[in-house]
Amino acid sequence: MSTSTTQAPLGPPAIALAPVGTVTLKINGVERQLQIAPWTTLLDALREYLDLTGTKKGCDHGQCGACTVLVDGKRINSCLTLAVMKEGADITTIEGLGTEEKLHPLQQAFIDHDAFQCGYCTPGQICSAAALLTEGKAKTTAEIRELMSGNICRCGAYTNIVAAIEEVLNTPKA
Ligand code: FES
Ligand code: FES
Repeated sequence: MSTSTTQAPLGPPAIALAPVGTVTLKINGVERQLQIAPWTTLLDALREYLDLTGTKKGCDHGQCGACTVLVDGKRINSCLTLAVMKEGADITTIEGLGTEEKLHPLQQAFIDHDAFQCGYCTPGQICSAAALLTEGKAKTTAEIRELMSGNICRCGAYTNIVAAIEEVLNTPKA
């Protein structure tokens, strides 16, 4: 007597659902809650979930500085950190530095000095420069160059970028 088994028909493949969790961030002064996968970078959280596309993705590997934002006042490459690691942090992006009516002094100086060409690196340059000013370590042109060296400009607008930062650095606060 032969024994045969019949196999139940295969059902539809199970859909792999990405686990999501709640992350709370204070972005440009407003508390935001995101439902995101734990591996979402801060850069992707800003751009893809909050529509804050001022922060740019250049290399996505920590090499260009285009994604620089301020986290609790310190500049970081947002492509190198997971959003979940910044739970509760105070994050400032280029959209939060100034307003259309009242630009941040660095934004105005970049315009005045024509410190960009394509503009792709500019938000990262300005956020980085904002932190550089508060760090208080750069006193000379050479020090500005050195401490801004994490921000690459593929258009080569460095001379004007440094001039813009230098002007703000040397302008007494009102
Ligand atoms: S995109 Fe983050 S350093 Fe280049
Ligand atoms: S202005 Fe084009 S990359 Fe800097």
